[in-house]
Amino acid sequence: MADKDKEMRAEVMKENFKNIKHKILILSGKGGVGKSTVSVNIAYSLMKRGFKTGILDIDLHGPSVAKMTGTERMRLENDETGLLKPISTPDGMKVVSISSMLEKSDSPVIWRGPLKMKAIQEFFESFNWGELDYLIIDSPPGTGDEPLTVLQIVDSLDGVIIVTTPQDVASSDVSRSISFVNALGKRIIGIVENMSFFKCTKCGETHFLFGEGGAKKLAEKYNLDVIGIIPIDKQIMVHSDAGTPFVITEKDSEGAKEYMKIAEEIIKKTGGANGAD
Ligand SMILES: Nc1ncnc2c1ncn2[C@@H]1O[C@H](COP(=O)(O)OP(=O)(O)OP(=O)(O)O)[C@@H](O)[C@H]1O
Ligand SMILES: [Mg+2]
Repeated sequence: MADKDKEMRAEVMKENFKNIKHKILILSGKGGVGKSTVSVNIAYSLMKRGFKTGILDIDLHGPSVAKMTGTERMRLENDETGLLKPISTPDGMKVVSISSMLEKSDSPVIWRGPLKMKAIQEFFESFNWGELDYLIIDSPPGTGDEPLTVLQIVDSLDGVIIVTTPQDVASSDVSRSISFVNALGKRIIGIVENMSFFKCTKCGETHFLFGEGGAKKLAEKYNLDVIGIIPIDKQIMVHSDAGTPFVITEKDSEGAKEYMKIAEEIIKKTGGANGAD
């Protein structure tokens, strides 16, 4: 019976995911390194490149993607088959976040362990994403139930992008995330080093506030690629808070250009070049 249920669920999920060409999980060992910011800006960079893109926020405790995409107050609707439709922003980004399912954005969400996995599974089964080239999945910090569920149930996942900050790379948290993905037999697309340096607008100098070359060392150790080095930029924070993605609003900034390079790397590594046709 349990096996039959599992089979049925797998079938439903396969059907819902059928039209999503590429799925990428964003992961980090630690909180606050910028996973959600990186998820949103990578998604928008891919969209700018002409790909149909969506973002799924599976952080059940602290959903921030809705805020960063300005979709906090938008309500989910059903399609004609009863499945939920992702929220569509005016620029065409599709967004699903747990906060979209709550009455108020400041409602506390209490999930007990096993319920989490079930909730995430239901998440995956209840949405009709339609046709997408890329789905970027943002996860909470660490290697808990949420990313584990995604890595276990999304068998067509293209891979994982690890986000870190320079001072964090030496810590065991990042190594743990890498080992976690490796142990589950999934691919790591690359490492993004966020908050890498600060370029002073007054003196023009570059300051490596949290150290230098950390992600590169980590990449060498685990035979991975660094696919992006994002500076500290107040505008990144300002636009995240305002729900107006940085890569769109500050498109000529160094950070936005680096995001576009990350998008190119992703396209190259996932064979997504055909997706925008
Ligand atoms: N490169 C950057 N420059 C300046 N501010 C940044 C940068 N990246 C992220 N931030 C800011 O840092 C804060 C944390 O970012 P974010 O919420 O994306 O981290 P997170 O890893 O998703 O956190 P959590 O672990 O809580 O999910 C936010 O206020 C965000 O705007
Ligand atoms: Mg986050």
